Amino acid sequence: MPDGPPAPRPDKAYYVTTPIYYVNDAPHIGHAYTTVAGDVLTRWHRQRGEDVWYLTGTDEHGQKVLQAADAGGVTPQEWTDRLVEGEWKPVLETIDVANDDFIRTTEQRHTERVRDFWQTLHDAGQVYEGSYEGPYCVACEEFKLPGELLDGEGDHAGQKLCPIHGRPVEMLSEKNYFFRLSDFGDKLLAFYEANPTFVQPESARNEVLSFVRSGLQDLSITRSTFNWGIPVPWDDAHVLYVWIDALLNYATAAGYGTDPERFARLWPADVHLVGKDILRFHAVIWPAMLMAAGLEPPRKVFANGWLLVGGEKMSKTKLTGIPPRQITDVFGSDAFRYYFLRAIPFGQDGSFSWEDMSARYKAELADQLGNLASRLTSMVGRYRDGRLPEKADEPVLAEAAATAVATAEEAIDRIDLQGAILAAMDYVRVVNNYVTDNAPWQVAKDESRAADLDRILYSTAEALRVVAVLLNPVMPKACRTLWSSLGAEAALGPISGARVQDAGTWGQLPGGATVTKSEPLFPRIEETPTG
Ligand code: MSP
Repeated sequence: MPDGPPAPRPDKAYYVTTPIYYVNDAPHIGHAYTTVAGDVLTRWHRQRGEDVWYLTGTDEHGQKVLQAADAGGVTPQEWTDRLVEGEWKPVLETIDVANDDFIRTTEQRHTERVRDFWQTLHDAGQVYEGSYEGPYCVACEEFKLPGELLDGEGDHAGQKLCPIHGRPVEMLSEKNYFFRLSDFGDKLLAFYEANPTFVQPESARNEVLSFVRSGLQDLSITRSTFNWGIPVPWDDAHVLYVWIDALLNYATAAGYGTDPERFARLWPADVHLVGKDILRFHAVIWPAMLMAAGLEPPRKVFANGWLLVGGEKMSKTKLTGIPPRQITDVFGSDAFRYYFLRAIPFGQDGSFSWEDMSARYKAELADQLGNLASRLTSMVGRYRDGRLPEKADEPVLAEAAATAVATAEEAIDRIDLQGAILAAMDYVRVVNNYVTDNAPWQVAKDESRAADLDRILYSTAEALRVVAVLLNPVMPKACRTLWSSLGAEAALGPISGARVQDAGTWGQLPGGATVTKSEPLFPRIEETPTG
């Protein structure tokens, strides 16, 4: 479904978030997948010249992190400091992510505002005291409904299991405070109706609609059997339930309660990217919290699928998590970023295999794209001394370039990241076919066809310029190299200044630009690990 136009807000930045990650363990490629997706989306919007803000961070309170710290024999604060600094922040560099901010839920800029937020809702009568009895999954940090649990077998016979983690749930019986979530069912349904693309993809929207239509229960928002959390402002025997602390990161990082100017520029968030397992928190509880506080709900919640191993969600608890480094050490960060978004339709589940990764690396990146760039730069070197011939028209490539840009732009507006990449890669195929059909190495043998050779070389270089701009959000390192080897850096300025919406306008590289042969964009991989 096409997006309705958002209300015009000239001062509004395009604000995208990832989920904030639990720091019970180190990141695996499932986490990196969402972070890369958000990075591609925001780099794309930056490439349009928009004001953009990209937020990621870590979710540090709650029972799960506390248990991990206990098992590690350190305090939860020491544990989270160690994991955030040693694992979660460094992974952003491993996968080449350009986030604007990184929020930790243990930071004061967050904890103080969370207390204010809930105190306000408490004072407004949105919170009441009660008691919770029922199942809780620590791995999800979620109060479960008895109907959604599985019956355990084997070692777990007689126990109820979480359907996501396959692990026994705890039975809680606690005196807690509750948020009147059940009051928000009709308001939420009206909101979903008025904003048909609020939850995407469609399957996620349907899931949310039927969940809310089936009736909402009030939500327990505090815990009193452990103390690793933000103290409840009106009753310090409780800490806030980790989810209603965590969701507020999107607002506290944006300056809620501290920096009204920044908050006005960023709010509401344009896209919350979330895994499909945390959809209800974002599409039901979060907008209800915001409505209760009189704040605008986000514009979109987009649920991505899971990376699977053996048909199940990859996870550290099941020892199936692959650290991103293991892949980037072999293929590099660009190929990592390309592979997952290219191979899996965004919103669906997908599997990772070394074989598929290697095959696509070779066929699509090295043979199609890398080889095209290397052929062109070598030929300009060999036949024209590294000087780009004068501008020339080549309607086949020019028209296909305009189509590729339009298709990719439209895909990005739907957050169809695979569609955008495919539009660029289809164009690479067109350009490769053009080079093969025109056989410049044959034309070069015939002096009388010098003008033809000039046209072919110029047009191929110009087409590669388009490719560099289109793929820059996905593969920033290779595209920067390509851009400068085409002489575009010197002639047109840094690639970051090249507007994606103008990329399809033919004839931007000037004749005489210095074309240089660079290192291969995607070097041959000698050996790939298996398993
Ligand atoms: N801390 C909460 C989110 C709070 S947001 C206010 C959380 N953390 S998590 O670390 O468990 O998961 C974070 C994200 O990683 C979720 O979107 C989850 O779907 C995603 N993934 C975890 N494993 C994944 C895969 N195997 N595949 C794809 N995404 C995965 O939930």
